[in-house]
Amino acid sequence: MARDGSTAPSAPVGVAREPTALDREVTAGLGVFMRVCGTCHEAMWRLPTGGHLPRIRWTEAAMRRQIRAGSGRSSASAMPAIDAGRLPESEMPALIAYLRSIEAVVSP
Ligand code: HEC
Repeated sequence: MARDGSTAPSAPVGVAREPTALDREVTAGLGVFMRVCGTCHEAMWRLPTGGHLPRIRWTEAAMRRQIRAGSGRSSASAMPAIDAGRLPESEMPALIAYLRSIEAVVSP
């Protein structure tokens, strides 16, 4: 129920509302993304406030494989594997929530 007592099902975009648990997870995930992925991907993958969003629409399994195994090539321009030292498993759910919010990850 909205603050004024009306029962609109959901607030229109741009109308202030309390952040949900999912909002907080996505925000935390953005922080993880900026720390762990942002050095390489900030310019490639814009922030939610930027114009172009990636929408590569991978499954969560494919995304986790890319993160933990890297791209499997040894070239200097390839993505390295990112281990639990740099990205603890406990931070993975927030990161995936952020990646879902930009449609980099979708459900199959
Ligand atoms: C050291 C730099 C570096 C870091 C850190 C890094 N990436 Fe990458 N990533 C790359 C490069 C370079 C490519 C493209 C070439 C390749 O696939 O190896 C890439 C490719 C990808 C792709 C495949 C995109 C496509 O269209 O095929 C995904 C998905 C991805 N990265 C996700 C992530 C996520 C999520 C993180 C953070 C957990 C991350 N990367 C961290 C350098 C990095």
